[in-house]
Amino acid sequence: MQNLKLGFFASHNGSNVKAILENIKNGYLNAQPKIIISNNPNAGVLEIARARKIPAFCLNAKNYPEKYNSLNEAILGTLTEHQVNLIVLAGYMKKISPALIAVYKNRILNIHPALLPKFGGEGMYGEFVHQAVLASDDTETGATIHLVTPEYDEGRILGQCQVPRYKNDTVETLSQRVLRFEHTLYSQVLKDIELSLINLDEEK
Ligand code: GRF
Repeated sequence: MQNLKLGFFASHNGSNVKAILENIKNGYLNAQPKIIISNNPNAGVLEIARARKIPAFCLNAKNYPEKYNSLNEAILGTLTEHQVNLIVLAGYMKKISPALIAVYKNRILNIHPALLPKFGGEGMYGEFVHQAVLASDDTETGATIHLVTPEYDEGRILGQCQVPRYKNDTVETLSQRVLRFEHTLYSQVLKDIELSLINLDEEK
């Protein structure tokens, strides 16, 4: 898939978004960052967008622009207006509407901080994922990039990396280690998409 026009969705820090933007800037990825959308007006990712002059939108149930009839319409309208052809979710805490998934079929990626299908599904996000890993006997965890479908964490897996879990790990140490691996993994998967080494329309 050539000519990646990315639309990022994130709710908090945006360290994954930042890592991808760095890889665009340094030439590793040939992609255009079109917009960054957050539901959270205080999200760090909106600062990242402003600092890099990438159009940023805080869209949530309270504050979508008047010209739209609903939040979903506002999100879709903003993506269309900016010609986004690939959506990159990175710590976006809201469920993506089935309508958006239908319009962007096989064009919405998400990152999950574990080795799916393990430790996924509704309610498995953030520290809950790492707590569950620490409560298991697993000696490794990881990160997964997958396509988004209407079911949580169930879409086709596009890339994974393994991360060791150490005996004395806490949620904090484990999540930080996984996050560092995430920063590399997301760009690697995007590179494979750019080079058509991953065909997003292939059957699962
Ligand atoms: C990451 O751990 C990601 O796997 C999860 O949310 C976190 C986002 O972190 N979905 P950041 O905002 O990119 O720093």
